[in-house]
Amino acid sequence: MASDNKAAADVVWRVMKYNFRNSTLKMCGGLVLASIVALPGSVAFGQLAGSRIPTTKAADHPVKSIQDTETVAQRDERMAWWRAARFGMFIHWGLYAVPAGTWNGKQIPGIGEWIMNNAKIPVADYEKLAAQFDPTKFNADEWVEMAKSAGVKYIVITAKHHDGFAMFKSDANKFNIVDATPFKRDPLRELAIACHKQGIKLGFYYSQDQDWTAPGAAALHGGHWDKAQDGSFADYIHTKAIPQLKELLTNYQGEAAPDVIWFDTPTKDMTPQLAGEIVALLNQHPQLIWNNRLGGGYQGDTETPEQHIPPQGYPGKDWETCMTINDTWGYKSYDTNFKSTETLLRNLIDIASKGGNYLLNVGPDATGTIPQPEQDRMLAMGQWLKVNGEAIYGTGPTPWGAEAGAFSPTEKDKKGQPLWVAKWDWRATTKPNRIFVSIFKWPGASFDVPATKAHVVKAYMLADAKQTPLKLTPAAGGGVAVALPVSAPDPIASVLVLETRP
Ligand code: GLC
Repeated sequence: MASDNKAAADVVWRVMKYNFRNSTLKMCGGLVLASIVALPGSVAFGQLAGSRIPTTKAADHPVKSIQDTETVAQRDERMAWWRAARFGMFIHWGLYAVPAGTWNGKQIPGIGEWIMNNAKIPVADYEKLAAQFDPTKFNADEWVEMAKSAGVKYIVITAKHHDGFAMFKSDANKFNIVDATPFKRDPLRELAIACHKQGIKLGFYYSQDQDWTAPGAAALHGGHWDKAQDGSFADYIHTKAIPQLKELLTNYQGEAAPDVIWFDTPTKDMTPQLAGEIVALLNQHPQLIWNNRLGGGYQGDTETPEQHIPPQGYPGKDWETCMTINDTWGYKSYDTNFKSTETLLRNLIDIASKGGNYLLNVGPDATGTIPQPEQDRMLAMGQWLKVNGEAIYGTGPTPWGAEAGAFSPTEKDKKGQPLWVAKWDWRATTKPNRIFVSIFKWPGASFDVPATKAHVVKAYMLADAKQTPLKLTPAAGGGVAVALPVSAPDPIASVLVLETRP
């Protein structure tokens, strides 16, 4: 099995690296340089925009990480399932769902899971919320069934967010859902069992650096606001963060140890030495995938642009755009600004065409219910993926690149960089000897395939079970015109399959 995985990984990764680097560089020329310089992803940490923690070379790491020691083939095998997955579901669920964006009768601006910081709620007052948290409607099997029907291949759930409240049984700290609430159940264990049963990979988000109820931990946006937060950062790491990460990595072995650890908001407090102690723990789980937000100079496995899609992705790197469906990660009762299914689906296709993954967030409320508008959109995406998933899962990036748009020669963005002007007519993804063209704007009688190194030998609509061949007419410049059916099979994105030969 492992060798099959490896073979598959090699193919996908070779296609990804070859296609994206060569074609994009060729098609966009110096544009790629401009895009890397201007790439919004370089300030990817949402609230941390502009304060990205620099990473350092392997030689500078006090503890060598798996990324420092493994071969390319070993990394390809370890990342194989993740690269093929393309679509994950983020779940931000915690004590912040109780106030749900309102404190002392006032609506608190900002994302829901930051309410303690944004409203500068004293630690003792925030901790009292635990007595009200009893999400009896939570049903792990239903959540995982919904995720599967949505076409999601992995779930990442907040185990402990910046407020310091653990959504799992923790002996390291009693401020957790089992010991401090009337609920008394461990939702992460129930979710791990359900994911294992239904074949969905599971990741835990853990805020390793910020913790607004633990003495000594970091607090962004102005630092501590309550004396109860003062203390030693190293003590916090040694008495809470590392013991809890150990619990998360080992307590669910029976059901399903996590496949991903998703760190967040590294600060300058996370020294290479302290980060190295966490890496030593991660190294005990050599199949684990972890992101670029640990801090201490460690790059991790994945780039994590947030709430936006980098114009050219990260050529040759693993990357994942995480995004909310409305405007908040954690539940807010009055945030009803839900993106359309069209926007969400085209984002997924756009990201896949650039070789990335889409980690799309839902924010369950204090009863344990995922808001219906979020479920509806996820399930609608699943309907499309049921017919067209072949164009997303296990694919590599486009052989072209220019179809995604271009940087304006005249307009500038807020940072004075050339403004990216995206085009949304179509996107392409690839598999060996096949190109999948997801057409957003139906062009009428024919679709003009730009020139590629490969020769198009057959074309058909993916939604057409009979794969009726479409007429091909060589076009000037080495492309080919494909005669299309009269109407688009899908109102959001219709997939044209091009079978190719070298
Ligand atoms: C930002 C926010 C955090 C959220 C994360 C998701 O870092 O601070 O609340 O969990 O984005 O990527």
